[in-house]
Amino acid sequence: MLSLHPDLDRILIPTNTIQTRVAELAEQISVDYQGVDHIHVVGILKGAFIFMADLTRQLRVPHIVDFMALSSYGKTTTSGAVRILMDLREPVEEQHVLLVEDILDTGHTINYLLHNLEGRCPASLKTCILVRKIREGVNTPVDYLGFDIPDVWVVGYGLDFAEKHRTLPYIAELKR
Ligand code: IMP
Ligand code: MG
Repeated sequence: MLSLHPDLDRILIPTNTIQTRVAELAEQISVDYQGVDHIHVVGILKGAFIFMADLTRQLRVPHIVDFMALSSYGKTTTSGAVRILMDLREPVEEQHVLLVEDILDTGHTINYLLHNLEGRCPASLKTCILVRKIREGVNTPVDYLGFDIPDVWVVGYGLDFAEKHRTLPYIAELKR
């Protein structure tokens, strides 16, 4: 029996379940984008870095990887203001953009990104999100979803709490 760090309550999504689901997502994306010249896969730092690496290594369609880093203000308020700390290296005009994000909570981050990237006139724009918290009133579009989870704070597989527990191979619920 694996001993859990004392900060953690329980494992919500075990490593092998994540790996199986990521392979399924990569397969689905590969099928859907068959025939396109390449996908412009955009990972959102820092949280998406592990998901992004595992997902893109299983894609069977040509792709390039790019990253953005964001900071969000007012996480504990409803303002949800988002700021770009690091922008894309490559222009995405007329590119097939696939946004890869770790988690959808209030949807502020993804909504901001969708709005921002739409303005750059991509050929298409879709979202691939590993986990979504089940919350009232959030109806952000997700094209490829890994898992729905309860509204608890989770860490691991890229997700952190104050930079801790980010590189755990599984997703765990933090103790309250
Ligand atoms: P949203 O803008 O409210 O959808 O929040 C998305 C961002 O908040 C994610 O990119 C994460 O950085 C962070 N976040 C939200 N919930 C969690 C969580 O349970 N664990 C770790 N990070 C989270
Ligand atoms: Mg994030």
